[in-house]
Amino acid sequence: MSTAKKQYKRVTVKSLVDMKASGEKISMLTAYDYTMAKIVDGAGVDVILVGDSASNVMAGHETTLPITLDQMIYHASSVIRAIDRALVVVDLPFGSYQSDPKEALRSAIRIMKESGAHSVKLEGGKEIKESIKRILHAGIPVMGHLGLTPQSIYKFGTYTVRAKEEEEAERLVQDAKMLERIGCFGIVLEKIPAALAKRVAESVSIPIIGIGAGPNVDGQVLVLHDMLGMTHEFNPRFLRRYLNLYEDMTKAMEQYVADVKSVDFPNENEQY
Ligand code: KIV
Repeated sequence: MSTAKKQYKRVTVKSLVDMKASGEKISMLTAYDYTMAKIVDGAGVDVILVGDSASNVMAGHETTLPITLDQMIYHASSVIRAIDRALVVVDLPFGSYQSDPKEALRSAIRIMKESGAHSVKLEGGKEIKESIKRILHAGIPVMGHLGLTPQSIYKFGTYTVRAKEEEEAERLVQDAKMLERIGCFGIVLEKIPAALAKRVAESVSIPIIGIGAGPNVDGQVLVLHDMLGMTHEFNPRFLRRYLNLYEDMTKAMEQYVADVKSVDFPNENEQY
């Protein structure tokens, strides 16, 4: 039997379901701007999430709550201009879908129409079921997000692991099954026990993308600035840093300052 993976010229929501069915793991990273998205897409990442984590890493807010729909559309449209292959998922920000299904649909339509994104992601389970159904009925693909849902941080009070108790774990499994049933194309599971994530991934046929949810899911997502080591104060156990850009960039900038001060830069080849 051939082990060659199918090549996806453009990743669609259907490709992701096919990847799960064929056992191919799905790679997903965040991006918020044109230049980074171009690199992420060129590297072959399957899914780009324009996450509301932009509120933290781009705008410097403590939580994801302050970012607005207009700001998410700005980030998403910058990312979309860079993409040749990846599927782009955009977070509906806090306050743009919680009050009623009509508002949720209006917000999702604005994202799709004004940014050119391919799909949206919403945090929550049965409490937002009607909003998700309304968006799906309009033909907009929806990704769910369960477990640690950062938009509810003030309800949880902490960013620690979710669903460690049986009651919450059971609720999460039921929510995942409901999201599949109503037509979501995938679910992000954030910061839950690996055994529970495995159980969820085995209970549904749509892809489960984990962050801090162990290896037995259908794909992984990380925040780009964290995996590149641009942030250095955020150190959760699940994070693997592939570079230490905070240090490398600081060194480069210190060298630039020194070169400007000493008039080493620009040299005779760097002028007209
Ligand atoms: O906003 C975000 O970056 C996310 C990921 C943490 C999954 O939702």
